[in-house]
Amino acid sequence: MDVTVEPLRHEHAAAIVAAEDDETIRWLSGGRSTVVGTEAYVDRLAREAAAGAGKRAFAVLVDGDCVGTIDYDPDVRDGLDPGDVNIAYGIAPWMRGRGVTAIAVAQICDRIRSGGVGARAAIRADVRNTASAKVAERAGFTFVREFASTTDTDADGRPVRFRLFVRPL
Ligand SMILES: CC(C)(COP(=O)(O)OP(=O)(O)OC[C@H]1O[C@@H](n2cnc3c(N)ncnc32)[C@H](O)[C@@H]1OP(=O)(O)O)[C@@H](O)C(=O)NCCC(=O)NCCS
Repeated sequence: MDVTVEPLRHEHAAAIVAAEDDETIRWLSGGRSTVVGTEAYVDRLAREAAAGAGKRAFAVLVDGDCVGTIDYDPDVRDGLDPGDVNIAYGIAPWMRGRGVTAIAVAQICDRIRSGGVGARAAIRADVRNTASAKVAERAGFTFVREFASTTDTDADGRPVRFRLFVRPL
């Protein structure tokens, strides 16, 4: 199994939409994706990057096939310390449970490090999202603390509680 990441492009959009399920929507995208909407997302990130924003999104490929996305964003501050770079991810249901995401996270950490983007990689796993916390641990991240989000709320309007995991770069 060959896991690679590459910058997200329009060509990945159909595969990203196909890889999305209710878990992806619940924990990552927040709503059903479309090909047109995903292409627009790629364009928006490019515009924002040109204007100085730090977020970068990538396709996760397994044996050359796009099976999900991973991004890093040094501009996310909720619950993080200065120099922390937030990482978020989602993998197709049929590829889960094989350790793919932790491999992709390691490659994203390499990109953050070589880009000099920050001092630590950070993963904020919703306390209810045990699979995401497992990815952080599998990728060599250390649990730091649990915190109440100042930006995200649950269905009842209460602040989401996240577990923060970090890894030096
Ligand atoms: C979180 C997610 C990216 C994990 O990816 P992955 O490549 O399957 O990660 P792993 O193979 O390391 O498995 C992690 C855990 O997922 C659970 N898992 C295992 N097989 C699974 C399957 N077929 N389906 C769902 N979850 C599974 C297990 O708890 C596993 O931990 P374990 O191996 O210690 O038992 C994936 O479940 C996903 O895309 N979820 C929806 C989006 C999301 O939650 N993103 C996180 C936002 S930061």
